[in-house]
Amino acid sequence: MPVSIKSEREIELMRKAGEILAKTHEELGKIIRPGISTYEIDRIGEEIIRSYDCIPSFLNYNGYPTSICVSVNEEVVHGIPSKKRILKEGDIVSLDAGVIYKGYHSDAARTHAVGEISEEATKLIEVTKQAFYEGIKYAKEGHHLHEISAAIGNYAESFGYGVVRDLVGHGIGKKLHEEPQIPNFAQKRRGLKLQAGMTLAIEPMINIGTYEVYWLDDDWTVVTEDDSLSAHYENTVLITKGEPEILSLSPSVK
Ligand code: MF3
Ligand code: CO
Repeated sequence: MPVSIKSEREIELMRKAGEILAKTHEELGKIIRPGISTYEIDRIGEEIIRSYDCIPSFLNYNGYPTSICVSVNEEVVHGIPSKKRILKEGDIVSLDAGVIYKGYHSDAARTHAVGEISEEATKLIEVTKQAFYEGIKYAKEGHHLHEISAAIGNYAESFGYGVVRDLVGHGIGKKLHEEPQIPNFAQKRRGLKLQAGMTLAIEPMINIGTYEVYWLDDDWTVVTEDDSLSAHYENTVLITKGEPEILSLSPSVK
């Protein structure tokens, strides 16, 4: 399957999906505090998404049981919300969410501090976000996909961090996961040539320690091998002839 090029109409729907997702993340950011359960975060997230007539895309995706992936501290991604998991001061928590608006997907993730966190945790969150911005410097027509990968990985590795290799970003549109796969570290080949109208979910997952991860027995939760902290930052991005448009960033919806 070739990488799809979206029409103006499709881009308009993906913009709307992205705005709603940005708003969802903005609202979820406000409820993060010591004492809240990861279950409550999921409940509120799903309510927000449905209030905009969107469908939470992760719910039942390959059997994933909830709408928001909530991953705490050494959990990298795909943590499953639970009433028993209560956030505490000093934790970091990654929220990953996806919405479908009129058949089109948007996917984005943010890592938040729970109350006061350590300097090293703060730096990890900032570097992970900046790694995304380093990557999208190359997210333009005429550049090659793996220029994005290398920029993300080299930036994060310059801080001594481990860049997760077992999970990647992806194309997005009518489906949550479309071609191409987008690794977050340098590749031997330059990858495909980017074209205006491609829509990509770019998502660095960065660990303070080793890049190695493993899966918990729930078959979803991905955890760092050395139990070091991990952060995640993701947006759905539209490739254009000029600067990329970050579709899941600005919550223009009220
Ligand atoms: N953002 C995640 C990804 O791109 C989506 C989680 S998949 C789910 O893989 F199954 F957990 F929903
Ligand atoms: Co994704």
